[in-house]
Amino acid sequence: MTIKRPYNFAPGPAALPEPVLEKASQEMLSWRGSGMSVMEMTHRGPLFADIHDRAIADLKSLLGLGSDHEVLFMQGGATAQNAIVPMNLLAQNVKADYVHTGHWSAKSIAEAKKYGDVHVVASAEAEQSDAASFGYVPPVEQWQPRADAAYLHICGNETIGGVEYHQWPDMNSLGLGSLPLVVDMSSHILSRPMNFDSLALAYGGAQKNIGPSGLTFVILKRSLIEEHAPKALPICPSVFDYRKVLENNSLLNTPSTFAIYIAGLVFEWLKDQGGVEAMGQVNATKAGLVYDLIDQSSFYSSRVRKANRSFMNIPFFLPDDRLYEPFLKGAQAEGLLNLKGHKAVGGLRASLYNAMPLEGVEALVAYMRRFEKEQG
Ligand SMILES: Cc1ncc(COP(=O)(O)O)c(C=O)c1O
Repeated sequence: MTIKRPYNFAPGPAALPEPVLEKASQEMLSWRGSGMSVMEMTHRGPLFADIHDRAIADLKSLLGLGSDHEVLFMQGGATAQNAIVPMNLLAQNVKADYVHTGHWSAKSIAEAKKYGDVHVVASAEAEQSDAASFGYVPPVEQWQPRADAAYLHICGNETIGGVEYHQWPDMNSLGLGSLPLVVDMSSHILSRPMNFDSLALAYGGAQKNIGPSGLTFVILKRSLIEEHAPKALPICPSVFDYRKVLENNSLLNTPSTFAIYIAGLVFEWLKDQGGVEAMGQVNATKAGLVYDLIDQSSFYSSRVRKANRSFMNIPFFLPDDRLYEPFLKGAQAEGLLNLKGHKAVGGLRASLYNAMPLEGVEALVAYMRRFEKEQG
């Protein structure tokens, strides 16, 4: 039976590809003839080992990781990583540099301050906090990182503000070729081809482009934890110590088994779609449809500079606050769900992760045009 489902524009947990949900439902009672649901399997047995190892291998291959990059599956979300990163990297050198581009980098900065000497190298916050705040990535030439810091942290895609790095900062141009770059990649991993060679560490919660919440991905260079920061702070819990997690192939304790299984199905689906190259093209088309409409209209507006606009999360605004309720009501009635903006910035937001089909974005844009005609 096929169920016609609405289009879900939620920022995360977010829509999953329908074929993945269908496959999981077929395999729910008995995974490939095993007589067990994946939820019922021991994480130490050969069946789960197969699911787990395949998911890691597929993620590595989708991201085109070289042999020096490892994938870890952890728990605690990106929020836990805000503490885990400094706990792992600041044992020998307490200096950590951060770029402040909005809500999520602010969270990372606040947490890191508990563990080290944190310096904000650049901030997009306007002097008087207003609508112009956090609408861009401060130009790299203006950053003032410390050459002797243990790492430099950025949020690759600010899910709430809709600000994305479309290229990684060129550390060589800053004269800081050896400063490890750490990226919160929660909301744009796998959205397009990305160069991991220059990244020391990337992390995020799975619940946007990878799978269910409860799973955290970490991609790190072996050399980062073998040479650059070979030990963690003594207070770092073992289960959060990258070296121990890596030594145990992410099976130090019971992992989020079902979430890993679903992530594996998402990776298989992504491979069938043509991988991150194909995703990047579709995602650019999807985002382009919404941004073109916003730019052509005097009714809708974006507060993010064009060069830094996110392809995954598009916050947008209406000319009159009284229009938000009817917009959301009308959208819901047309099967366009979860378009309310985050309370920190208000307005509306469309999240267009990999699982959002082009038709969903076309339906959104058609609705936006109609709404403008009726109310504009
Ligand atoms: C960019 C970014 N960083 C961090 C977080 C926090 O993630 P979690 O809820 O997995 O801790 C989110 C959540 O939406 C996010 O979008």
